[in-house]
Amino acid sequence: GPGTPQWRSAIHYTPQRNWMNDPNGLVYHQGLYHLFYQFNPNANMWGDMSWGHATSRDLIHWMEQPVAMRVNPAEEIFSGSIVVDAHNTSGLGDARSAPLVALYTSAYKAGSGHEPGTQAQSLAYSTDDGRTWRQYARNPVLTLNPESKHFRDPKVSWYAPGGHWLMTTVVADAHVVKMYRSHNLIDWEFLSDFTLPGIPHQGALWEMPDLFPLPLDGDSRKQKWVMIVSVNPWSIAGGSGVMYFVGHFDGRTFTPDHVAPAGSDPAAYQWLDHGADYYAASTFANAPDGQAITIGWMSNWDYAAQIPTSPWRGAMALPRLLALKTIDGMPRLTSAPVAQYRSFVRGHAATHVNALTVSSATRELAPATRGIVQNIDVTISPHSAQRAGLIVRGSADGETGTRIFYDTANRTLTLDRSRSGHTEFSNKFSKQHIVNIPLENGKLHLTVVVDRNSVEVFTGSGTAITDLIFPTPDDDRVSVFADNGEATFIDMTITRLADPHG
Ligand code: FRU
Repeated sequence: GPGTPQWRSAIHYTPQRNWMNDPNGLVYHQGLYHLFYQFNPNANMWGDMSWGHATSRDLIHWMEQPVAMRVNPAEEIFSGSIVVDAHNTSGLGDARSAPLVALYTSAYKAGSGHEPGTQAQSLAYSTDDGRTWRQYARNPVLTLNPESKHFRDPKVSWYAPGGHWLMTTVVADAHVVKMYRSHNLIDWEFLSDFTLPGIPHQGALWEMPDLFPLPLDGDSRKQKWVMIVSVNPWSIAGGSGVMYFVGHFDGRTFTPDHVAPAGSDPAAYQWLDHGADYYAASTFANAPDGQAITIGWMSNWDYAAQIPTSPWRGAMALPRLLALKTIDGMPRLTSAPVAQYRSFVRGHAATHVNALTVSSATRELAPATRGIVQNIDVTISPHSAQRAGLIVRGSADGETGTRIFYDTANRTLTLDRSRSGHTEFSNKFSKQHIVNIPLENGKLHLTVVVDRNSVEVFTGSGTAITDLIFPTPDDDRVSVFADNGEATFIDMTITRLADPHG
């Protein structure tokens, strides 16, 4: 059939066809951003896992490339990472160019010589700048003893103070991040385990770890280390989500500054995103100026397989820049769309509204603001209103739309997709995602990124809420509303974003 073009993202990456999950091997190399990803070359459902590939110069416009690493008779190619081996420490390069080296998880099949279902870390390399990949002859390079069915997701980076490579990986069902070091990307030495005392979330898996340094409040003398771990299920919004810890890394052991008491619920932990659809996020290797640029998979294992899109299933969230900022006396990991997205938005015509006050009413904005792919910047001053916010992808009759609103009594921001379009394909498609946000001088700044299949909300203080939506293509109206009182919407800029895929 014709599939579901009404839900094909315009400014978020989707493969032309078939299933996609985690971003893999994010690397910036010679002016190109490479996005590899978990991909099924044979069907629009999870299976036959391979690495798909796309490239971009600006993190917004992506070109799909041939499948980089294919499932083979012995193994599926699960998640992993890539580094630029600039000094050819692996010896796998040739005189011409530095090799790109991938560490990925081999998920073994029957007949592979390994017990079916066991997982180990393997190496592949490219000497043509990421176009083609060869598997290392003596794989795997790292195995657990005894072999494990949950040893996966190697993320490698260069640890400058020690002059060696650092790998984080997980034993997913044991809620453990295992760290290793290497001088050549081939021989790995165990460093330490990171786990939580009194594991609070029995049954959840820990996946896709990443450990990286960031300056606190932009001050490089106040560097902290950040550990991110994808947790499934048990996330703050239900199902899959990305947790983070801020702390200290001495080259061997990661020590978090704060740990929630054993037995705490998800709200006691820190989350990179408070929506339902942000998972398996990872940082780019070799990013310009050491920036922490991330891409996350915009879905949730609770219902990923039921998502009603075809002939593809899976999209990536907008690339984000992470920073560490002191908020309420605590270092927080903040998210904002990358600078390239900002320039992309500025390149389009916008509609500007200086100030609009609404009193116990919903007000649809002028026709010029209508759009199905758009960026909205607004500062909300909720004054006396009980709730104040926006409706995007709204229908003519006002019945359908995705609501983003501030609740003044509870001091919370909510993304409500209960009437956003199709929701019935899974009873695990959660409806409302709520996060505590204090106002700053009585105001809240929001950037709302709307696409054919998603809404991402970024607050001025760096909190993100990401949710998939499945509206009909006619629902393109923007409204503002204030319940039981008055609110003002200041400096509202609504930018209709042309489809970069043409
Ligand atoms: C995370 C994950 C990884 C694994 C991959 C398999 O979403 O489960 O742990 O490597 O997906 O596709």
